[in-house]
Amino acid sequence: MTIRVSEFDLRYWEHRHTEDHERRPEGFEWLASYGTSVVHDAVNRHFQKDDVILELGCGTSGLMHDLAQDGFSRLKAIDYSQAAIDTQNSIHGDADIDFRCMDVSNLEFENSSIDGIIDKSTLDSLDCCVGVDDQSAARRAVQEAYRVLRPRGRWIVISLRDPKRRVEDFEGLFRLVDVVEVRTNDASPCADYFVYCFEREA
Ligand SMILES: C[S@@+](CC[C@H](N)C(=O)[O-])C[C@H]1O[C@@H](n2cnc3c(N)ncnc32)[C@H](O)[C@@H]1O
Repeated sequence: MTIRVSEFDLRYWEHRHTEDHERRPEGFEWLASYGTSVVHDAVNRHFQKDDVILELGCGTSGLMHDLAQDGFSRLKAIDYSQAAIDTQNSIHGDADIDFRCMDVSNLEFENSSIDGIIDKSTLDSLDCCVGVDDQSAARRAVQEAYRVLRPRGRWIVISLRDPKRRVEDFEGLFRLVDVVEVRTNDASPCADYFVYCFEREA
């Protein structure tokens, strides 16, 4: 049987999140948590507490739950893995967070209905996918985010990818506001990851 790459990716994540549900019922955090000062600072610098904030590819991360605990009140999170959404609802179902199963390249939100977007390692995972119509999967996600984000809305991207490459997908749609390079070890020759903020062009 031949399967398309996108189907393979979804099967991979579905399998991984289903296994994680058994092994790590408390969830799994990629790269950094809200408790990491650079993430906490970026969120509080670029978002207001009453902003409608959307997390793309939430997995089983506790990020949205931590934002809710800190007073952010209008939170949405999507992932295309139903297993990830089920885990989120079982861990954080009591918090007032709208978790939904959805593909980042086909967001079921109205145009300009979101004030801020955050993604942690989701664009990185899309970088591993093959796109369609000569467009990378990450570029398609950026176009869809542009549609649902309000003009001048901000997107915090926490990513392994260096600025030379990361910025390419945003060209013409978003401007880079700032980027922080994070090194957990000062002696390290390269960054561990980057925290970007992009602003949607008007
Ligand atoms: C590297 S994990 C990061 C998870 C979470 N953001 C974190 O920081 O712990 C990437 C996540 O993106 C999700 N994902 C990948 N492609 C997606 C797509 N096309 N639409 C929605 N979610 C996707 C995966 O299911 C996975 O949960």
